[in-house]
Amino acid sequence: MKKFLIAPSILSANFACLGEDVQNVIKSGGDMIHFDVMDNYYVPNLTIGPKVLESLRNYNITVPIDVHLMAKSTDRLILDFIRSGADYITIHPESTEHLDHTINLIKDNDCQVGVAFNPATPLCYLDYIIDKIDLILLMSVNPGFSGQNFIKNSLKKIRKVRKLLERKNINIPLQVDGGIKVKNILDIARSGADIFVIGSAIFNSSNYAQTIMNFRKELIK
Ligand code: DX5
Ligand code: ZN
Repeated sequence: MKKFLIAPSILSANFACLGEDVQNVIKSGGDMIHFDVMDNYYVPNLTIGPKVLESLRNYNITVPIDVHLMAKSTDRLILDFIRSGADYITIHPESTEHLDHTINLIKDNDCQVGVAFNPATPLCYLDYIIDKIDLILLMSVNPGFSGQNFIKNSLKKIRKVRKLLERKNINIPLQVDGGIKVKNILDIARSGADIFVIGSAIFNSSNYAQTIMNFRKELIK
């Protein structure tokens, strides 16, 4: 059976006790942690930086941490996030002047690189970079906030990317981020996603383990 991964997004976690909350969501079945970085410039919200990532690593968080960088002047932040313990850094083409250079910067420093596509960002960037990246992230909401509704058109885009990966025989994960709920995860999986970034549906629930189990039950249908 295909391996699906659930990546809880800590944007919806309790920041007053972040380490504990993150440990709790991992014990409850989260496979990796999605760490949303927002600069109030590229996106209209402000979150956390490398220091918080380093603190989480020191809090014995050992699962992969995937840093979703939604910040302009992206290159200036990359080395700090790698030093602080990022396993993946996912960047948006619009947040760097030189996408290929930024990809090289991440790879040359032994970190895995993802490239993110907003709902209206064309996939044509992939023509030139698909052979050198480790993950594709399709945004199914406009980036900035958790708790938004899944944009239905995203299913078409997921199918398109899945077909492209199959045609080129490239085996990298396809991650989807935004508005994922128990009621739509199966459609998203059937369209071709491998990694599901889930924020509010997990962290706003009273029992993380039960909620993650409910997601997984859908995936085996
Ligand atoms: C949105 C972030 C997401 C967000 C997802 O810009 O990139 O990772 O936390 O949250 P939900 O699952 O609530 O849409
Ligand atoms: Zn995200």
